[in-house]
Amino acid sequence: MAETVCATPGEKPRQDAPCFHVDAGYQQDDRHKALGNKALGNKAFGAQMGWANVFEDLAGQVAVITGGARGLGLSMAQALAKWRAKIALLDVLAEVKDVAETVQRDLDVESLGVVADVTDDRSVAAAFAEVGRTLGSPSILINAAGITVWEDSIDVSRESWQRVIDINLTGTFLCCQALARACKAADKGGVIVNVSSMSARVVNLPQHQASYHASKAGVEMLTKALAVEWAPIGIRVNAIAPGYMLSEMTRQFTTANPELAERWRKMIPAGRMGQPADLEALVVFLCSARSSYLIGQSIVIDGAYTAV
Ligand SMILES: NC(=O)c1ccc[n+]([C@@H]2O[C@H](COP(=O)([O-])OP(=O)(O)OC[C@H]3O[C@@H](n4cnc5c(N)ncnc54)[C@H](O)[C@@H]3O)[C@@H](O)[C@H]2O)c1
Repeated sequence: MAETVCATPGEKPRQDAPCFHVDAGYQQDDRHKALGNKALGNKAFGAQMGWANVFEDLAGQVAVITGGARGLGLSMAQALAKWRAKIALLDVLAEVKDVAETVQRDLDVESLGVVADVTDDRSVAAAFAEVGRTLGSPSILINAAGITVWEDSIDVSRESWQRVIDINLTGTFLCCQALARACKAADKGGVIVNVSSMSARVVNLPQHQASYHASKAGVEMLTKALAVEWAPIGIRVNAIAPGYMLSEMTRQFTTANPELAERWRKMIPAGRMGQPADLEALVVFLCSARSSYLIGQSIVIDGAYTAV
């Protein structure tokens, strides 16, 4: 049976994208068969099950996305915007303001771009204050700001090591703290999705990235620690752990070295690197109250790379 796929409300069904719009996905659902109502189409069935607007709780919520000027952060921000969340993009890149304007224009949601450095607690606090004044108090945070450095560990300088840890791990913590403080001040709960990596669990080859591996392993344990600490105050913390994804971060290496790209591709059972859009459905689900009992987890999304 042909699979119906549909990425977001209002989009035409596509055959090439993951499905999380709940109009789709029930075609082969056992419960559908059990109902014995073959006359029900997918849409009617979804509506009957109360799932037609499954992530509509995101509408009007204020989401902060660090590293939002491009790549995975921007893609995840767009996914939330398609479900009508207000979007605040934080990034060190000045272009983040223009990017936010484009999101606002293209997706018709209030958006804000703030130049901020996640390693600087005053910059983070100022950015969250600006978001609060402009869009309202944030309740969603996606921590996507990150860098990687490829170096042989025997040659790595203290500064290089520290920079990766500062951005990927300390920056993630400072933004989690800022979101929790904003939620506490507004007397409401919140959701955090940290962007870890499969590199928190397996060692990448052939490149050497010890600082990156260590930083992402730290993000995984930070996610669990904050999830346990903040679950009682209604702040849900999870992580996603992508495999090799096509973004500026990886293109700098694959463009310069196509043989490397091919070597990676052969190691991925899915036969391809991930596209930023491959993360959309997962992050929307994690930010929605639909996943309210999913807490303190890191979900690997890697084309089965780490399953081998
Ligand atoms: N691309 C991949 O294969 C891959 C795989 C797993 C995890 N990740 C993670 O996903 C996240 C996004 O990566 P990407 O692939 O989109 O890379 P990217 O380089 O395209 O985007 C990273 C963004 O973070 C921003 N940033 C860097 N330092 C910052 C700072 N101090 N303050 C604020 N913003 C800062 C950059 O300006 C950039 O816009 C990163 O945490 C990365 O480690 C990427």
